[in-house]
Amino acid sequence: MPPKVITITNQKGGTGKTTLTALLAYGLAIRGRRVLMLDLDPQSHLSSLFLRINEVENISDGVLELAIQGRFKIRQIDLGVKVSGEVGLIPSGINYIIDVFRGMIPAWDPQAVYSRLMTEPAINKGYDYVICDTPPELFTPTMWGLYAADYIIIPSNMEELSLLGVKILLKEVIPDVIMKSKKEPKVLGIALINITRRVKSDTIAKLETSVVRFVRQLPSAIYSRVYGKLFFDTLIYRDDELRDLAYRPRRWEIPLSRVINRSSELRSEVEGFASEVENRINNFKGMV
Ligand SMILES: Nc1ncnc2c1ncn2[C@@H]1O[C@H](COP(=O)(O)OP(=O)(O)OP(=O)(O)O)[C@@H](O)[C@H]1O
Ligand SMILES: [Mg+2]
Repeated sequence: MPPKVITITNQKGGTGKTTLTALLAYGLAIRGRRVLMLDLDPQSHLSSLFLRINEVENISDGVLELAIQGRFKIRQIDLGVKVSGEVGLIPSGINYIIDVFRGMIPAWDPQAVYSRLMTEPAINKGYDYVICDTPPELFTPTMWGLYAADYIIIPSNMEELSLLGVKILLKEVIPDVIMKSKKEPKVLGIALINITRRVKSDTIAKLETSVVRFVRQLPSAIYSRVYGKLFFDTLIYRDDELRDLAYRPRRWEIPLSRVINRSSELRSEVEGFASEVENRINNFKGMV
């Protein structure tokens, strides 16, 4: 069975994509799954959680090479906890921006990562899940992730612009992806992350009702591909352990298990979220 590709996306910046990618990879890995992370963001924050900064400074065998049919290398990641399956990363590098600036990237085929993932035995046989972190923009690397996706997860916090980002994505971008993808992508849900414990549950319920109403106004070919219970039940609250995680000095030296296990609330959120992701995948029920 080829791996299930989960793309974490919201073109609005700072909504928790990179954090959620790392937490989900961890959560699935401790459930015994083999997980490959793809850092599709040339800003390279996900890569910098796991690789030394001087490696991220210059990548010549990462996702860009994957996309242009070049030679790529899967880095083995140590999460700091014994897991039965492999955890890998295909990184981005800060140098990619310069490649783009100098026009050294030939054709930006939006289906490039989809095609490569389909044909690459090292990925097809080696992993249960591929999790793609995407940039906060709607440009080709984002589309690589969206067209490769079997499942899309949209992270958002409670900030108005992030929530508007979700609506734009659902109304303008996802329908396009559903129509043009060679796969049958499904929206697994909206994941609320980085929210304060002060937020009341009925505030969240009201928000969910209004977003569901919005999605139901889309064509049924679209909303039937969106998971019926739109918001994940597991909320990932604001936690000091996660604050500025991808911006800390020498962050790659601290294994993710140490960060997560310092907070019992965070640990159970990560476990709960990964379990919910697998439940939703195994029993997908679209909106009716
Ligand atoms: N649950 C949380 N608790 C505390 N801080 C959080 C939490 N989730 C995310 N953050 C912080 O919010 C900021 C944005 O998160 P993150 O970098 O994951 O978002 P992003 O969507 O990947 O951003 P970008 O669009 O720049 O790629 C970071 O400083 C991160 O540490
Ligand atoms: Mg990010």
